[in-house]
Amino acid sequence: MPVIRFVREQRDVECYPGENLREVALREGIELYGLKGRLGNCGGCGQCITCFVEVVELVEGGGPHALTELTGVEQQKLKRRPQSWRLACQALVQKSLLVVTRPQVGLADRESALTQARSQPLPEGPTAWPAPPPSEMEPDTEEVAEEVAEPSASPSATSGEGGGLPVDGR
Ligand code: FES
Repeated sequence: MPVIRFVREQRDVECYPGENLREVALREGIELYGLKGRLGNCGGCGQCITCFVEVVELVEGGGPHALTELTGVEQQKLKRRPQSWRLACQALVQKSLLVVTRPQVGLADRESALTQARSQPLPEGPTAWPAPPPSEMEPDTEEVAEEVAEPSASPSATSGEGGGLPVDGR
């Protein structure tokens, strides 16, 4: 699965291919918003332009097109922003990548943070979808076991031919 390396937070987060970048960040407790966005944001509709992220240029293992193409909303809203900026709520993760959250705030010791983030290769992603947890497999397994057991039990119970014990023991 793709890995998002959040440079500011120094965290790697795995997600499903096609997941929304904003939703992944919020789920993982990563702060996307500056003060304005915390006070009020559009909830992911692409209207408040407060969920900026900077996509750091490719690193080893990170493929091109790590995020989906700019949406029409982004093309309008990001006209006067650096080309590497995206709106997290508009971007779906396709492959592993490095991002800097809240690029408008600046990042202390940016160059060394980026150097450190780039030093570890990323898995290319997307790789395999995760196997379902064992608990989701159990009902199917039991149903199959019951279906297999029933046909073999029925004929001996209903058939009067050979093998069955008389009910009264004679
Ligand atoms: S959350 Fe408002 S533009 Fe992304």
